[in-house]
Amino acid sequence: MSLDKKFEDLFLNVSTRAALSSYYFVGKKDKIAADKSAVDAMRNKLNQIEMKGKVVIGEGELDKAPMLYIGETLGTMSGPELDIAVDPLEGTNFAANNLPGALSVIAVAEKSNLFSAPETYMNKISANVPSEGIIDLDYSIKKNIFNLADYKNKEPNELFACILDRPRHKKIIDELKSLDVNLKLITDGDISGALLVSKESYNIDIFLGIGGGPEGVLAASALDAYNCFFQGRFIFDNESDINRAKKMGITDLNKKYSLDEIITGDSIFCATGITNGDIVSGIKIEQDSYISETLITHKSVNTKKIIKLKKKINE
Ligand code: FBP
Repeated sequence: MSLDKKFEDLFLNVSTRAALSSYYFVGKKDKIAADKSAVDAMRNKLNQIEMKGKVVIGEGELDKAPMLYIGETLGTMSGPELDIAVDPLEGTNFAANNLPGALSVIAVAEKSNLFSAPETYMNKISANVPSEGIIDLDYSIKKNIFNLADYKNKEPNELFACILDRPRHKKIIDELKSLDVNLKLITDGDISGALLVSKESYNIDIFLGIGGGPEGVLAASALDAYNCFFQGRFIFDNESDINRAKKMGITDLNKKYSLDEIITGDSIFCATGITNGDIVSGIKIEQDSYISETLITHKSVNTKKIIKLKKKINE
């Protein structure tokens, strides 16, 4: 079974509308308002789609977030049963401070094919390599870099690594520096960071480090369409996260998830730019119209492209 091609346009419209809504809060120093606006628009558009949708990755749990919470059902309740992962505003700081890189992101798969991730941190690694054994979360930084350099026929000092600039990554960053690897340190937005390995032109050979678990699952859904390698391991380091994980049915708290354990079967992924970023440009307004750019992937039909749209704001 695969997802009907008509869903490409429908979900493209969802992330585009969420991006447009959030765009009005760019530079307003209000992360919460920018996020809420994207959430409301996304939910509204999702509810118009003929599907029995269920949020597997969303804005938290029912008691904490009123909308797009994990388990929320969406759509007209006729049509296929779909798992939905959303990050209506990825990069809340970027939007609030009018910095590059804010995105609206959604990924969709058929029911029971998308991992329902708890809102904890995840240790992640990705690269454009075809199989297991070249890079691995359990290898040392040195082994990963030397294996990757070998595979790419390059020297370590010709490789580029993307990682969130956080104190928790000091050791990894120091090791990469000592291997003379070139760094791209990002201040936020590790969905985009992980996706930079997907195309030669982004000039990133490896993405690694600890970021949000939901962001890891969303990045994995797009990387699947590019046949890239991804692994993630959730970090459950306090009692409340451990209890939540158990409630979600996770028994092995230290499990390393491969891409095909995070997402299986067909999927559609859409990421629309709110502000300009490495992958897509942000929203632009021209009189009564807006221009948007969205990265869309649809695994079963091998769609991987950036779609630029110009539409009337009130359409
Ligand atoms: P928000 O959009 O929710 O602010 O997340 C931005 C982000 O940078 C993610 O891309 C990343 O996974 C996570 O925050 C990293 O978390 P932290 O800022 O706690 O290191």
